[in-house]
Amino acid sequence: MFAKPLNLREFFSPIIAADVFDFWAGECRSLLTWQRPLARIVERRVEAKNTVTLVLKPNKHFLGFNAGQHINVTVEVNGIRLTRSYSLTNIPNKKSLLAITVKAVENGKVSSYLCQKAQVGEIVEIGQSFGEMTLTTAPSKPSVFLAAGSGITPLMSLIRHLTAEQLTQPITLIYWAKTRAELCFFPELRQLEANHTNFNVTFALTNETHLLAGELNRRPDAELLTQIIPNIDNSQVFACGNAGFVDSIRQLIGQKCLSFHAESFTPPVFSNLVSPALGTVRVQLQASQKTLELSAGQPLLNALEAQGIEVASGCRMGICNTCACTKLSGTTQDLTTGELTSEPQSALRLCVARANSDLILDL
Ligand SMILES: Cc1cc2nc3c(=O)[nH]c(=O)nc-3n(C[C@H](O)[C@H](O)[C@H](O)COP(=O)(O)OP(=O)(O)OC[C@H]3O[C@@H](n4cnc5c(N)ncnc54)[C@H](O)[C@@H]3O)c2cc1C
Ligand code: FES
Repeated sequence: MFAKPLNLREFFSPIIAADVFDFWAGECRSLLTWQRPLARIVERRVEAKNTVTLVLKPNKHFLGFNAGQHINVTVEVNGIRLTRSYSLTNIPNKKSLLAITVKAVENGKVSSYLCQKAQVGEIVEIGQSFGEMTLTTAPSKPSVFLAAGSGITPLMSLIRHLTAEQLTQPITLIYWAKTRAELCFFPELRQLEANHTNFNVTFALTNETHLLAGELNRRPDAELLTQIIPNIDNSQVFACGNAGFVDSIRQLIGQKCLSFHAESFTPPVFSNLVSPALGTVRVQLQASQKTLELSAGQPLLNALEAQGIEVASGCRMGICNTCACTKLSGTTQDLTTGELTSEPQSALRLCVARANSDLILDL
């Protein structure tokens, strides 16, 4: 007879709550949790200047991902737990490994920690994968990838996916960075280009004095894009970088291509909808029994944080759902669409909504 595998839920549920068990599992450097996805860092490699790739082995509570998606990563920095989003740069694999590639931003708390301090063997908390910039089916049309800086990360996963599938449709990448030393995956991209006749890569270096053959020193403009991408009206375009880069690409070719998918790593600025002139509203947090006077001229997440309220968050741009809560009453405005919602008992993403009246939230 075989021994029944240990079921943590059955064994511990009469004694201890799931979140308490998972907290202590993390503290004891164990991946054996009840419900919380955790991952161990199993490899760390320098990818480019100030940039490292961390390979993670998740526990069984991580439910998988598609190329082009992201995860939230939570680490403790100076005694404070902080969560940020990172794109997965590898593709789904038999060993169930995940790879993130992190660039240390100046004074950045989590990116500096992950780049400079996180070590192999360390355990980090992760969230489930999210993001819509994926390829669910083998594309029958040419694919164009436009990346700026760290924006290469989800696009690298898509490129690895397409080239691994040995598809014959043209794949074009234009990758902007300040200097050559900041280019990630440089040897692999050149190798992929050599191995796949349908894959073409152009590096654009905006702050490099000596250019090598095939490199450009030019920001995106309409002429450059039409030169490098011959068949733009028949192509699916994927763009990723900071908000300014994504906006300029959208304006240049968003309407000209077959389909346009874009994600930015910096939170959008909702300047047309948020303003201190909108005054304050009274917000009741029902679960924590607090009533606050909050700015109506900021995303609710920022307004709550400004009052010292800690709210779980990740992407801060409405894509990971970490900050979602239930609005019990009142009117909110969706900052991505401008739409007002007064429906009671409705789901609300605090990072992309502002209060348009007094509110009661289930927080
Ligand atoms: C969906 C998604 C996917 C992402 N994927 C990646 C990825 O694959 N690799 C990666 O390196 N980053 C990625 N990011 C950015 C990442 O989540 C963090 O924002 C970044 O690492 C900075 O966090 P921090 O804690 O170090 O900085 P913070 O301590 O939060 O901020 C410190 C300073 O840096 C500025 N800052 C914050 N974020 C950025 C940024 N992205 N670029 C420049 N300045 C910034 C802030 O304005 C502030 O002045 C992604 C973001 C999103 C939303
Ligand atoms: S923090 Fe990601 S949806 Fe709000």
